[in-house]
Amino acid sequence: MTTSISKLSDLLSEKVRVTNQVIEENLSSKETTIIGDIASHLINSGGKRIRPLLTLTVAKLFDYQGDKDTLLAAAIEYIHSATLLHDDVVDRSEKRRGLKTANIIWTNKYSVLVGDYLFSRAFQLMVRTESLRIMKTLSDASAIISQGEILQLAIEKKLDVSKEDYLKVIKGKTSALFSAACQAGAEITNARDSHVDALQEYGECIGTSFQLIDDLLDYLGNENKMGKNKGNDFFEKKITLPIIHAYERSSKAEKKFIKELFQKPLPNHSDLTDLLEILESSKSLLYTKNQALIWTERSINALQIIENSEIKTLIVELAEEILDRVS
Ligand code: IPE
Ligand code: IPE
Ligand code: MG
Ligand code: MG
Repeated sequence: MTTSISKLSDLLSEKVRVTNQVIEENLSSKETTIIGDIASHLINSGGKRIRPLLTLTVAKLFDYQGDKDTLLAAAIEYIHSATLLHDDVVDRSEKRRGLKTANIIWTNKYSVLVGDYLFSRAFQLMVRTESLRIMKTLSDASAIISQGEILQLAIEKKLDVSKEDYLKVIKGKTSALFSAACQAGAEITNARDSHVDALQEYGECIGTSFQLIDDLLDYLGNENKMGKNKGNDFFEKKITLPIIHAYERSSKAEKKFIKELFQKPLPNHSDLTDLLEILESSKSLLYTKNQALIWTERSINALQIIENSEIKTLIVELAEEILDRVS
């Protein structure tokens, strides 16, 4: 998905530069240097910054002339970073963006607290946009993300969870921020309501597709390209769509086997290989990819009412490229 992202980054290079500057300026705390150390470790480790780019892109789509979009974009990346710090604690992840996670280097306690700190910084930036509407959109999204992560924890190991509940989880933990990034990018320009709704829908759908691909990459991806360890979802007993699909389709004996795999106190790589064979034979990975395609198509449909332009073409391309992402 590098093509549209790099084209948009070039097109918006000055906005991206200012956003990165705002991100950098608000990272540290004069009083507590360890906050800056931990926050910079994550934030300067090469994230794709796709969400702030979406915000800037949407503002450009509606020809925004002000300078608040960069504050908003930085706030969105802070919220994302905060959720990653918390998520890596909950998922006991050891690698992110090719580096050891903050929880591994500084412990869970620091990750949780610095995550809270970044959330607070995000809210300070939001206030500087002087828009109650934006504050509502982003604070609503923050609450929904937490609900998604908590629901995910509640369905841990539950192999018979419904696809609807899984969708609720990913819409909460991931789609909500994509959706808010696009919606707020439109709101800051005072775009008409139907356009704001279209961008909200686009963001929600690409976010859903993005997480479906993430769940796929967790089984199939290249660790170096992803910068994360493979198989973490299985080792953490996270039930994602490939698993739900495979379990649904399997015979009684296979169900028992899958259940045993997910009940092992210390699953190993050979268990992961066994599970991968099941996922291949049940075509569950293909099924997941096809579901992502459906969400991508929905995202593009949502943009129908938006006038054609160079930016619109790139937003459509970005949605398509999410399907083939490897990082
Ligand atoms: C990771 O998001 C969390 C998910 C929603 C899967 P990204 O893949 O956008 O992470 P970075 O910011 O580029 O590292
Ligand atoms: C990401 O879900 C959700 C949030 C960060 C809120 P994952 O747990 O699948 O993301 P990765 O794989 O750790 O990046
Ligand atoms: Mg995780
Ligand atoms: Mg993941």
